[in-house]
Amino acid sequence: MPLQFLLKRRSVVASQLREPGPDSAQITELIRAAIRVPDHKALTPWRFLVFTKDARADFGRAIADIYEQTHGDECLPRHLENERNRFMRAPLVIAVISSPVESEKVPVSEQLLSAGASCQNILHAARALGFGGQWITEWIAYDQQVAKLLRLEKTQSVAGFPYIGTPAIVPKERPRVEPQELMSYWKN
Ligand SMILES: Cc1cc2nc3c(=O)[nH]c(=O)nc-3n(C[C@H](O)[C@H](O)[C@H](O)COP(=O)(O)O)c2cc1C
Repeated sequence: MPLQFLLKRRSVVASQLREPGPDSAQITELIRAAIRVPDHKALTPWRFLVFTKDARADFGRAIADIYEQTHGDECLPRHLENERNRFMRAPLVIAVISSPVESEKVPVSEQLLSAGASCQNILHAARALGFGGQWITEWIAYDQQVAKLLRLEKTQSVAGFPYIGTPAIVPKERPRVEPQELMSYWKN
């Protein structure tokens, strides 16, 4: 992989992701890349839930209902509209589910990090296929009722929702800290 692929990496915000999204063969390749991450003891501590087409609107209606129940009088029509459209921002959304397994050798934190690596690999693979994407969590990643809706087990959690589509913009550079400001050599 040319180094510039990493050094020029930028997310494309979800609101700027358009059709077409990856087709089903490409989605399979994204998941293949997601699985190809460092995985201590080969525990496969991740699952992938794919949202395309009408499934995005179905999910939006369900989270709007949850939002309405939990926010009561504070809930305005525009809030519900936002929830209904949440997954409609991109042609493809993948829920990357951290699924840690019992292990004497591998702490849960390592397994969660591996799920984070899956999110990042999905974004890299999407870009390699000519798409853009953004790793988003928002409230739905941390809500117990949404976890139920996603049929997560108690030990599972959402590591991220990578949103993928065709970029409508070329993202501008974002200032980055110089490596020297963050690094040092141990006893050199
Ligand atoms: C775990 C994680 C969760 C994130 N959640 C959100 C989010 O909910 N909303 C958001 O706007 N950006 C979120 N981001 C940041 C974006 O993915 C992205 O990094 C940001 O838009 C900056 O763009 P860049 O990746 O090109 O630097 C999250 C990043 C990480 C690592």
